Amino acid sequence: MKTVVFIETNFSGLDAIQYCKHQGYRAVLVTDNFERFKKWFPASAMHKLDLADQVITVADSNDFDQVLAALRAQLSRIDALLTFAEIRTLVAARLCRALGLRGSNPEAIAIAQDKARFRQVLMTRGADDVRCRRIEHIDELPALAGALDFPCFLKPVQGHSSIGAVACPEAAAIPGIVESLRGISEDWISPAFVVEDCLRGELVSVEMLTTGPGRHQVVGVSDRDVVKDSIEIGASFPLQGAQREAIERKAMAALDAIGYDFGASHVEVMLTDSGPHLVEVNTRVGGSGHSVMLDLATARSIVGDWVELCLGQLELPRRLYQHHRGAAWKCFVTADQGVIRRLPSAQDIQRLHGVQHVWLHREQGDTVGGLDSNYSWIVQVMCTGNDQPDAKRNAARAIEFVAGHTVIG
Ligand SMILES: Nc1ncnc2c1ncn2[C@@H]1O[C@H](COP(=O)(O)OP(=O)(O)OP(=O)(O)O)[C@@H](O)[C@H]1O
Ligand SMILES: [Mg+2]
Repeated sequence: MKTVVFIETNFSGLDAIQYCKHQGYRAVLVTDNFERFKKWFPASAMHKLDLADQVITVADSNDFDQVLAALRAQLSRIDALLTFAEIRTLVAARLCRALGLRGSNPEAIAIAQDKARFRQVLMTRGADDVRCRRIEHIDELPALAGALDFPCFLKPVQGHSSIGAVACPEAAAIPGIVESLRGISEDWISPAFVVEDCLRGELVSVEMLTTGPGRHQVVGVSDRDVVKDSIEIGASFPLQGAQREAIERKAMAALDAIGYDFGASHVEVMLTDSGPHLVEVNTRVGGSGHSVMLDLATARSIVGDWVELCLGQLELPRRLYQHHRGAAWKCFVTADQGVIRRLPSAQDIQRLHGVQHVWLHREQGDTVGGLDSNYSWIVQVMCTGNDQPDAKRNAARAIEFVAGHTVIG
């Protein structure tokens, strides 16, 4: 029996565990905090964690030596090791090297996770021309003001969930921004920041599976619904249109520039007046329902493909991904604060046109505190449609229904 090890997981990785179960593989989950998953995932998805055949608990799943020792002590064989959690991609790649397993180039992941190095490498290799400076602490920003072009964009050198990502429209805004960014004390967020050209336009992402150096299977491009500048509340797939090929080329150029030669990726691109420009590369499958959307549109299991690739079992026709229909996810969020007095049931939402999945991130009786991050999602729907716009309309209608039947106060 094949043994597949997961180092922590995001929402998409739950389906990878389920995929292993269906295929008859042994799924092993390494975690340093099982309780954290209860905060991350809707209650209705938690049962998928129980599908793991074995859970290995370590004090710190980001500690290479510790995880390696635990794996060697507790498993007699490992056929594949991967992660869906952004914060564990580097350690997973290093573990693959140490264990002689198929995995990504750790150096490429290190570049992707350092937003200053990422910009510098793209510039040097001719993959993009977004200018960027690094400051070691946000307090260095005022001294730079005279040398900056406005608007500019600030974000932590190492970050996630758009924490600390803000546009700075003019020099006069600097004191307020310094004040607000000085207070960040989140795990995995660096005190160093990048100050870069501000990109204006629509945000899209390209999903890919890289099967070897320079060999990328493009799953497709999806759009993104963003509110309050950075809170993601929806996406739809597959985006067509004149710019699609240029977007895909840009994303592939980024992977080649950083040397990402094996594995899944989720590449974020901004469509500006001067063409597509890179925002960031995530060296993993997109989370938050993204992989489910891709599966519905392509009739394949994206997470399953990654597992099979790691096992060396993925058959590679010239083109792996075809688009059979549209798919879209969308969340109900609100700026209202208070107790959720009424919420439509998952069954009622499920009956609406095109709805394939419903995830309740909050329940009746919960208190909601307004709209400030991706943790503000209350209800999420996943819909299909004849094509991307149709799926997007179905998702929008389902969320209108949820909004009309929810009472908060
Ligand atoms: N140079 C830029 N110009 C304009 N907006 C940007 C720029 N860089 C990032 N952004 C915006 O800020 C958001 C967060 O940036 P980025 O994706 O690099 O950080 P993150 O915190 O790792 O992301 P995520 O929210 O995807 O985890 C992007 O989705 C995009 O909307
Ligand atoms: Mg991002």
